[in-house]
Formats: sequence, structure tokens, C-alpha cells
Amino acid sequence: MKKPILCAGRLYCDLVFVNTPRLPTPGTEVFVPGLTLHAGGGAFITGANMVALGHAVSQFSTLPAAPFDAVVRADMAQYRVDASACATAADGIDPQITVAISCAEDRAFLTRSDGPATPDPAEIDLGQYAHLHIGELRTLQEQPDLLRLAKSAGLTVSLDCGWQDAYAENLSELISAVDVFLPNEAEMTALRAAGTDALCAPLTVVKNGKNGARARSRSCNAWILNGATPVEVLDATGAGDAFNAGFLSSWLERAPLEQCLANGNACGAAAVQALGGAGNLK
Ligand SMILES: Nc1ncnc2c1ncn2[C@@H]1O[C@H](COP(=O)(O)OP(=O)(O)OP(=O)(O)O)[C@@H](O)[C@H]1O
Ligand SMILES: [Mg+2]
Repeated sequence: MKKPILCAGRLYCDLVFVNTPRLPTPGTEVFVPGLTLHAGGGAFITGANMVALGHAVSQFSTLPAAPFDAVVRADMAQYRVDASACATAADGIDPQITVAISCAEDRAFLTRSDGPATPDPAEIDLGQYAHLHIGELRTLQEQPDLLRLAKSAGLTVSLDCGWQDAYAENLSELISAVDVFLPNEAEMTALRAAGTDALCAPLTVVKNGKNGARARSRSCNAWILNGATPVEVLDATGAGDAFNAGFLSSWLERAPLEQCLANGNACGAAAVQALGGAGNLK
């Protein structure tokens, strides 16, 4: 049997206000027709998509404090993402929550991120997994041991970038140690502006919304391009994470890069046509 994939990163309980008539303004109240609660965060959305593509996936995250841990555990069970390597946040740590307000023209988010992103990686047997996907660079910066231990246990490692208002100055050393780095266009530009060689990983894959994506391996100087077939966007949440799942699923099968990009684009396009980060998979 194939070894499972481990998806590590911040896991939130997402409280999503749906079809909000307008974004709230100070001193006013907006009544909303719908509210959903579910597990969110890049590592989880990538993992749920990989399960849908036929992989066994375990999540490696600190779960938000009670009562929200029950919500995210139920969601993980529904998406068949194994939660046995997760631990609920210790007492005194705030519930890790994102409030998403989604209306026709825009979206706004409020996020409380508290405590460690993951349990201690020294306490799990990483050798039981084939591949580690890290949902955001911030988690790797916080937990560089995770990468070191995964590499010494023989896993391949992929890393999404995730937006940061101010990237640290030189992140090339961390990024170059993963096998596949998957930023989007804006993240790549911001990393470069902050002094990081954004092409330092053995393989860099840049996501570019309706324009598709491109990939470049360190050993070869040319980009391989793959344009998406543009579709109408219902909700862009999680498109990048769904792309990651499609790309990695093919990459783990050693498919040619063109095929990995095409599979990533297909999953990204499916994600923008569904509500919520993992909405089209249940
Ligand atoms: N309008 C669209 N039509 C078709 N495909 C799309 C569209 N928007 C996004 N995609 C697909 O989804 C992928 C990821 O989208 P995007 O570049 O917005 O990632 P991202 O900014 O990292 O997303 P996220 O906000 O989820 O992190 C694209 O590379 C493309 O394959
Ligand atoms: Mg992204």
C-alpha cells in the first residue's frame, strides 16, 4: 500500500457569512442570510483535495481550542483527512478562528492566529509518510525542524508560500531545502522585493489565477507554461490549495511537468466554481 501524505500548517475554524448584502461599516449592523462553520487553512484544503484525488492524507496541525475543535474534527472526518497526528490547543490559547465575510463585490477576513501551528514534529514517526506538504511559509519559519526531520526520514517536501505583509529578509535557505515551492505571482514578487531568491528551490511552480500557472526546475532555465481555461469565479477561496493538490498528485506519480500543471489548473478551476475552500469535494 502507498504511504500517506502529511499536510502540515495552521488549521482554523472558518466562520463564513455567506451572501452578505454589504460589508459592515462602523456603527452599523448587517443581517446575513447564511453562516457556515468548517475547517479551513491551506494545509487542510490541499489535503482534502488530495483525498478526493485518491490519496491517503493525515493532517499535522494544532486544532483550535474548544468548542471549535469538535467542528474541525467533524469536518476532517467528513473529508476523510486523518486527524490522529493533530493535538487540540493547550488551555490559555485563544480559539484559532477566521471570520470570513463574503458579499458580491468583495470579501473581508478577521483571523485570530494563536499558539503553535503544529504539535512537536519530533513526537511523530515521519517515516510512515511518503510526502510532506507545508501549507504556508510562515509555518516552516516557525517550525524549521519539521523540514529537517522530514528530509532525514526520506520524505519529499512541498511548500506553499501564503501571503505575508512583510516577508523576512532572506528566506532562500529555507525555501531551497524543499523539493517543490508553490507561490502565487504576487507572493513571488513580494519575496523577491524582500531579498529572497524565489527560484532557489529545485522546482518552483507559480500560480497565476485565470492565466494558469508555470513551472521551472533549477536544472533548466526555461519556464514551462500552462494556461488555464478561464471559468466564472463563484468563490476564489482555496483555488491555490486545490491547484497544489492536483499538481502534487501528478508530480508524486512522476508525471511530466506539463501534465502536473494541467492537473493543477483543472483542480484550481473546479475550486473557484464551488463555495468554500473544500466545498466541491463532499
Ligand atoms: N478564473 C479562473 N479560471 C480558471 N482557473 C482559475 C481561475 N482562477 C484560478 N484558477 C486556477 O486556480 C489556480 C490558483 O489560483 P490563484 O493563482 O488565484 O492562487 P492563489 O492566489 O494562491 O489562491 P489562494 O487565494 O487560494 O491562495 C490557478 O493557477 C488556476 O489554475
Ligand atoms: Mg495561495
